[in-house]
Amino acid sequence: MAQNVLILGAAGQIARIVTQNLLSNTDANLVLYGRNLSSRITIADPNREKIIDGDFNDSQSLSDALQGIDIVYLNSMSSEKGTLNIIAALKKQHVNRIIGATIIGIYDEFGKKIGKWTKQNLSSTYIDEEIRSAKAVEQSGLEYTLLRLAWLYNDPQNHHFKLIPQGQTVNDVQVTRQAVADVIVKIIANNQDYINQSLAVVEPNTEFNKPSFY
Ligand SMILES: NC(=O)c1ccc[n+]([C@@H]2O[C@H](COP(=O)([O-])OP(=O)(O)OC[C@H]3O[C@@H](n4cnc5c(N)ncnc54)[C@H](OP(=O)(O)O)[C@@H]3O)[C@@H](O)[C@H]2O)c1
Repeated sequence: MAQNVLILGAAGQIARIVTQNLLSNTDANLVLYGRNLSSRITIADPNREKIIDGDFNDSQSLSDALQGIDIVYLNSMSSEKGTLNIIAALKKQHVNRIIGATIIGIYDEFGKKIGKWTKQNLSSTYIDEEIRSAKAVEQSGLEYTLLRLAWLYNDPQNHHFKLIPQGQTVNDVQVTRQAVADVIVKIIANNQDYINQSLAVVEPNTEFNKPSFY
């Protein structure tokens, strides 16, 4: 049976690619959720897509969006408060499966040089919020998959990725949004894979001192 998928932060860059891929390659029905989404997103298939305008802190809109949903993709974990609110809404609506996008660095797992460069180029407040959000998901009791993303760039021709389990140092520094979207769609399609795992998503052979596009 077709899955009902809720995409939170659906105007985001990866979320838009995921939406397109799901429409093209699966028979999933999509609820697209985000701020002022109706003026930012054009529906391609009205039979399979529904838009709900809302913020991650808006519990009522989240509850409405979660009706009948099988799996949630969360495209931003940069606010602990927002993530906690989303977790509470899933529990209230008895939705159990979530995939969340966060950053490499939440366990200080980047190798020495790229780890230092990353800390120099992201605010400590942003990193702290990602760390706290990830902990909240890990401790939520939900069936989660955390995707810790390397530095992102766009290249529709480049779909190369490697998944690195929690506990390993990560030295590859970058990955395309297109490759990340492939990973997300694969997990949505096989939603029993990678339950309660936290995976780094990187492009192989990018063990640089900093991303090639910086
Ligand atoms: N840039 C990098 O190199 C990098 C590296 C690793 C991980 N990441 C993370 O990877 C994730 C996905 O990347 P991306 O390029 O798709 O990011 P993006 O384009 O910034 O998408 C994030 C989306 O989440 C939405 N959002 C955030 N807070 C929200 C809230 N309170 N209520 C409703 N919507 C909210 C944003 O809404 P608005 O459009 O309304 O602001 C935005 O559309 C991001 O969370 C980013 O932090 C980025």
